[in-house]
Amino acid sequence: MLDILEALRQRHSVRQYLDTPLGEDVLAPLKEEVEQCNAQSGLNIQLVIDEPQAFDCMLAHYGKFSGVRNYFALIGAKQDDFDEKVGYYGQRLALKAQQLGLNTCWVAASYKKVPDAYKLSKGEKVAMVIALGYGATAGKPHNGKSAEDVSNVDAQSPEWFRRGVEGALMAPTAMNQQKFTLTLDGDKVRAKAGMGFYATTDLGIVKYNFEVASGKDSSVWA
Ligand SMILES: Cc1cc2nc3c(=O)[nH]c(=O)nc-3n(C[C@H](O)[C@H](O)[C@H](O)COP(=O)(O)O)c2cc1C
Repeated sequence: MLDILEALRQRHSVRQYLDTPLGEDVLAPLKEEVEQCNAQSGLNIQLVIDEPQAFDCMLAHYGKFSGVRNYFALIGAKQDDFDEKVGYYGQRLALKAQQLGLNTCWVAASYKKVPDAYKLSKGEKVAMVIALGYGATAGKPHNGKSAEDVSNVDAQSPEWFRRGVEGALMAPTAMNQQKFTLTLDGDKVRAKAGMGFYATTDLGIVKYNFEVASGKDSSVWA
């Protein structure tokens, strides 16, 4: 299995997929990871396999999606930190998929809901989905902000903080908006979402990438 740091670097949004079905070799570890994420977060994320309808709609065609038949449905009951948790645990699943040789794309808008494809308990909703499969391409790195744009990194910053910020800059954000800031304060980091659509979900994604790239766990957050 690909090293997680390498998976973080190699992950780019992929919108066109091959017909290759997902075998047990990837499904078993993905299901296991979904279970762990749900147990830790209280979310009810579901892996939807062989369901082409969600991406057979105007929005998906307009968004240049093709061949999407599998996705993670990011589901849960609305709670205080729901949006951030969706980001954090969704990115954990996206990186696991990348480690297994699959490609992904976070999708909040360019799909349609297919109620028969998952089970919603009372009070739960689908926040968004992550398309999943063997990509027709590997995607390409996004352009974006610098470490100085999003953090207080400087020549004196510890190496782990610099690495964490670099990992955060490789995180997917809605419309590549990268509206977050990371501020080192003593040995803790303050992570803040800016204003914008899905900025709190983006923050959860960014925090997961930061932890992976810096080697710290969630105790790093102020
Ligand atoms: C919360 C969120 C929602 C997104 N929604 C969509 C979407 O509806 N349609 C789409 O084509 N891409 C969507 N994306 C993908 C972003 O456009 C993409 O992550 C960003 O441009 C950075 O590119 P990268 O993922 O290749 O690094 C979304 C990403 C995130 C994080």
